[in-house]
Amino acid sequence: MLNIVVFGAPGSGKGTQSELMIKKFGLDHVSTGDVLRAEIKAQSEVGKLAETYISKGELVPDEVIIKVLANVLDAKKNSKGVIFDGFPRTIPQAKALKTMLNERGTDISVMLDLKVDDEELIDRLLKRGQTSGRSDDNLETIKSRLDVYHNYTSPLIDHYKAEGKHKEKKGMGTIEEIFARIEKAIEEVK
Ligand code: C5P
Ligand code: MG
Repeated sequence: MLNIVVFGAPGSGKGTQSELMIKKFGLDHVSTGDVLRAEIKAQSEVGKLAETYISKGELVPDEVIIKVLANVLDAKKNSKGVIFDGFPRTIPQAKALKTMLNERGTDISVMLDLKVDDEELIDRLLKRGQTSGRSDDNLETIKSRLDVYHNYTSPLIDHYKAEGKHKEKKGMGTIEEIFARIEKAIEEVK
């Protein structure tokens, strides 16, 4: 299986680039943020809990999101590979993901780290907020999401470097330019 962690700060283009990867490589896509937003829409117990964190730009507790991910993964058993978008966000989540994949006889192939300046991230998210209807695409929440990224999520870069899985890619430029960089990185691990 070709399992890809698409990594980067909020607004770095993980979702946009995932769509292109799905088309080109025939992979499955798991966006934990999308899963949580669907749970909120359905007003499930997990959704109600997640909403209290998402609206503040905070992270849903590890044990909750790990369970959500495990359920989604079980539904993708016969996949050629999975793109993990927005997960893992903490070291415990990365360890849990590795265990889950190993138990299923597979592992992470590569972690693609999309690099975008904070200033551009804020611009992109504010622009997205005009149409996304997301409760967290406003300036105050964007700032907490970036703090959470820098404090809790960015340590994953060293974690995956230590495993020899980290590939950094410039996430600025046109969507096509960025995808060309990603394609090259995937061809190298395929
Ligand atoms: O990935 P995305 O930006 O769509 O996630 C939106 C929000 O969902 C995050 O800001 C966070 O509140 C929550 N989330 C989380 N843990 C994850 C993924 C998303 O807490 N692994
Ligand atoms: Mg996204």
